[in-house]
Amino acid sequence: MESRGAGRARSICRVRLRRNEPTELFARSVGLDTDIVSKEMYTFEDRPAEFPPPPTMGEMPAHIEGIGRLMESGTIPRTESNVNTLKLLNNLVGELYPIREKTFEKATQKWIEFFFYLNGVQLGERISLRPEATASVVRAYIEHGMHTWPSPVKLYYIGPMFRRERPQKGRYRQFYQIGAELLGPSDDPALDAELIEMLLSFFERIRLTGTTLFINSIGDKNCRPAYIQLLRSELRKVRDRLGADSQRRIETNPLRVLDSKVHEEQAVIENLPRIAEHLCPDCKAHYSKLLQELELRGVAYKENWRLVRGLDYYMRTTFEITAPGLGSQNAVCGGGRYDGLVELLGGPAATKGIGFAIGTDRVALSLQSEHKDVAGSSKYELAVVGTTGDTWNEAIRLAESLRKSGAEVFLPRQGTRLKQALEQAAKSGVRVAIIVGEDELKNQRYTIRVMQPFYEGGQRDSSIAVSRAPSYAALIRVRSELERKLKTWAVASGLAPSAFGISSLLNLMMQQQVLPPKTPPLGKTWGGKT
Ligand code: HAM
Repeated sequence: MESRGAGRARSICRVRLRRNEPTELFARSVGLDTDIVSKEMYTFEDRPAEFPPPPTMGEMPAHIEGIGRLMESGTIPRTESNVNTLKLLNNLVGELYPIREKTFEKATQKWIEFFFYLNGVQLGERISLRPEATASVVRAYIEHGMHTWPSPVKLYYIGPMFRRERPQKGRYRQFYQIGAELLGPSDDPALDAELIEMLLSFFERIRLTGTTLFINSIGDKNCRPAYIQLLRSELRKVRDRLGADSQRRIETNPLRVLDSKVHEEQAVIENLPRIAEHLCPDCKAHYSKLLQELELRGVAYKENWRLVRGLDYYMRTTFEITAPGLGSQNAVCGGGRYDGLVELLGGPAATKGIGFAIGTDRVALSLQSEHKDVAGSSKYELAVVGTTGDTWNEAIRLAESLRKSGAEVFLPRQGTRLKQALEQAAKSGVRVAIIVGEDELKNQRYTIRVMQPFYEGGQRDSSIAVSRAPSYAALIRVRSELERKLKTWAVASGLAPSAFGISSLLNLMMQQQVLPPKTPPLGKTWGGKT
């Protein structure tokens, strides 16, 4: 567990979770009848290494005896199913031999039966690669007695999740999430609203535009069971108009029918009873307070009565945030309240929970679709472009000086043409290029170019005077001149001046989306090449 920087200020701790957990944990929390648990988990048996399968049929009786011994010692799980299967296998073993006394068909039939049961023995604990992390966070919360910590306990995690889904754009079998969970005694809707507001401002900061927040309440254990009954009975009436998956879900998990994307089913689903009309007074009050709290914070939302989410642990608030450029897999974040989960997994009943997970693969895809960098991902801040003869020597010296002072500098290869060098710089995320061309050397000035898309249209070149024989002092002067220009841009754009260096100033201007003003404030020196 760790807490640092901005996290510590908000008393949020990072929790490092295992990548695999007992299958049972997900079955109990996410739910046996969900797609995630029933179809999508990567599950294996943690078999004892010292117990290899028998090499020949003749060794089957010894193998069965071995299973019995390991079950007694607890190495193989002593489940009810294992005990019964072992009894059957012991009976069958007696009937397998001697083979010569049986007809071929009879012997084959007995062996098939034997292998069928043998296959059913669970030789080790069932383990699954985590398909999501909320269940693991709650397990850790209980295991480490975190209910004794000051509440609410705020935990975040970053890492890969695994689901055996049909791969397509934005849907992978190994994908990455950043998630956070807030656990404690309060279920105040203001917490839900604050969490959602924080998420949206996070997306704003990384310049993920065009997001939409969808929100719903799916009730609690007092009102949801009756709604599910009603939904099931209404679904049975329209069963013939639904596809095979939805037909199956009528019995296993009728709420999931509402999630269907099958075109032909949409008209049927739209006429089904809606949970908002069947919430108990407490859930209704919680939901309307949540909407009020969102409005108070100026958070735009869209209600979606069909947002039931694919995990059983949710109660009351559910939400999803979508982003453009992703096609059908357009949810970049999903979350909700899960007040009964801590108790279900053996923790204190009073603990409530709410959380979210952001799918970072999809966030990156959406940003890329709008040709934006993921914040902080650009490799270089500055480029020094001068690639021939004397300009190359000058460029190397300038780049070295800037690197020494902490800037990340892109230096195109010797001989690269100016246009090509600037294109390469733009692709490398460079924000400002310092051009050291023949003309510049002749005029003893460097040209500073603010790169597209950071500065669109208008005047984008400026220049700095430089000594023809650049001494170290002259280079330092160029650097401080550059810094001064950046600061002037920042001031003119409303950012307060301070003791920022080149790197931090550029970063700040990018974060705040501050671009150099069109009319530079320092007169003709700023009006372009002079
Ligand atoms: P989830 O909606 O299953 O929720 O996943 C959250 C996000 O992970 C999705 O919105 C999506 O961006 C991303 N994601 C899911 N599956 C894939 C995939 N196959 N490929 C790429 N990205 C994917 C949860 O996982 C809950 N544990 C969230 C939560 C936390 N609820 C409460 N606390």
